[in-house]
Amino acid sequence: MGPGVCRDNAYIFGMNILGIETSCDETAVAVVTDGAPPAIRANLVQSQLAEHAPYGGVVPEIAARAHLDHLDALIREALAAARIGFDALDGVAAAAGPGLIGGLIVGTMTAKGIAWARKIPFVAVNHLEAHALTARLTDAVAFPYLLLLVSGGHSQLLVCAGVGKYHLLGTTLDDAAGEAFDKSAKLLGLPQPGGPSIAQAATNGNPRRFPLPRPLRGREGCDFSFSGLKTAIRERVVAAAPADAQTIADLAAAIELAICDALVDRTAKALRWFRDRYPQGTAFVAAGGVAANARLRARLAALAGDAGLGFVAPPPALCTDNGAMIAWAGIERLRLGLADPLDAPVRPRWPLDPKAKAR
Ligand code: KG4
Ligand code: ZN
Repeated sequence: MGPGVCRDNAYIFGMNILGIETSCDETAVAVVTDGAPPAIRANLVQSQLAEHAPYGGVVPEIAARAHLDHLDALIREALAAARIGFDALDGVAAAAGPGLIGGLIVGTMTAKGIAWARKIPFVAVNHLEAHALTARLTDAVAFPYLLLLVSGGHSQLLVCAGVGKYHLLGTTLDDAAGEAFDKSAKLLGLPQPGGPSIAQAATNGNPRRFPLPRPLRGREGCDFSFSGLKTAIRERVVAAAPADAQTIADLAAAIELAICDALVDRTAKALRWFRDRYPQGTAFVAAGGVAANARLRARLAALAGDAGLGFVAPPPALCTDNGAMIAWAGIERLRLGLADPLDAPVRPRWPLDPKAKAR
């Protein structure tokens, strides 16, 4: 046990929390120690890319089995990297949703087993909340802040008003931004995940050679849409076939720019609204895998500057799925006494703002 530890769900300063992430196709485990500042003592990610590659996308059943195969060893490695044993853990947090149900069951059952055996608290973490709170782990951002959460499954603009207090301003009407990157990469014959490979291919490309639409640009509200863009991308790629290296670079540059433009347009609206409604707002934060994109980060930083807000985006390895964000969300909840019972369910769907209209 860490210093000042109290195991009946009261605030534990200096607690060591194990974080387990298995909601999609990364098996990830971390150890984070609470403190000022908190310390990431181990943060390991084992990707399943090779297992899914022959199928051109994530196969839920394969993902669940791969999590089961890798998780125990990864937990042992993470504890070894953190130089602690199970006896030094003060709590264990696992992603309990949203995500693929098989993987969520593997992660939460493992976490519950450890919690039961060690008699330490278990926290069922919302994966989206973990992305949302990562900027507080890395940069101690205070509430309330505006968040752009862009990942493989979600594209949302939210006000983060407190732990468990999220107000949805906009979401995608169809595909997520990361999905647009991933599907585009597939069309171009580039490897998964699509975001990094499109970004890399775009480096030598001319984004103006292939014009693409900017869905919902200038429209009311802060929602996103990427399905029309996806169709336009498919048409351009088919028309350009067989594409040489320069054509692939030009297409990649056009795709990256179109997705970034769409995100920037909607975010600019949200920032104006946030400045008016939350004069005490502390920052504009970007999170989720797509927030690892360097060109997007530069544009978002400029937007925040124009709105007079600081811009915070966690380092790229903490934007994409990882165990540290789960451990940190566990710490945030345990600080408030919010442990979960060992019969807490997994939730394949789990919106951050349950009051928002389901879309
Ligand atoms: O947050 P994340 O790791 O997993 C989910 O919760 O979905 O996000 C994964 C998504 C993928 O669609 C991937 O292509 C995208 O994030 N991504 C990127 C970059 N790195 C990862 N997109 C654009 N640029 C990147 N550098
Ligand atoms: Zn994620």
